[in-house]
Amino acid sequence: MSEKTELRENLRSEVGALVDSDAPDEELLNEVVRRVHEAHPSWDWSGIYLLVGDTLVLGPRTAPVDHSRIETGEGVCGTAVSEERNQIVEDVREVENYLACSIHTRSELVVLIRDQGRIVGEFDIDSDAVGAFSQEDEALLEEMGAMISGRVASLAGSYGSG
Ligand code: SME
Repeated sequence: MSEKTELRENLRSEVGALVDSDAPDEELLNEVVRRVHEAHPSWDWSGIYLLVGDTLVLGPRTAPVDHSRIETGEGVCGTAVSEERNQIVEDVREVENYLACSIHTRSELVVLIRDQGRIVGEFDIDSDAVGAFSQEDEALLEEMGAMISGRVASLAGSYGSG
């Protein structure tokens, strides 16, 4: 098995076990973010934004950042929701409406999380290297997103009512 296939297999079984456990949503999603992040040394910040109404609200993440609320259509994160598609940004310096969370960030990957067809949140990953993200990374997060979507919907719902 190649290193990448093995990594993917491991994450799949770890995340599957977490989702099936009775860990509370926030705790479980924190753990998912941490494990996916730690498996990728070139990723410098990872998080999940929850879609609450028309606002993306920062949920589990590897470190606090300034943009804890982003409106649909704003920045790379909000554009993913308004255009209903994932975003792979090679170099954030070339994106006009980019919202900087760190002056060191050079590339960004946003992968939407859907529950029963409805967008409930997104993975947002930043790297300090230009062009750090591939379609393989996108595919991995798509797969992880499908596994955790029920938990993300549930956590987004709790933020909405709180
Ligand atoms: N860069 C994002 C904002 C979120 S931070 O990267 C964590 C954007 O343009 O939407």
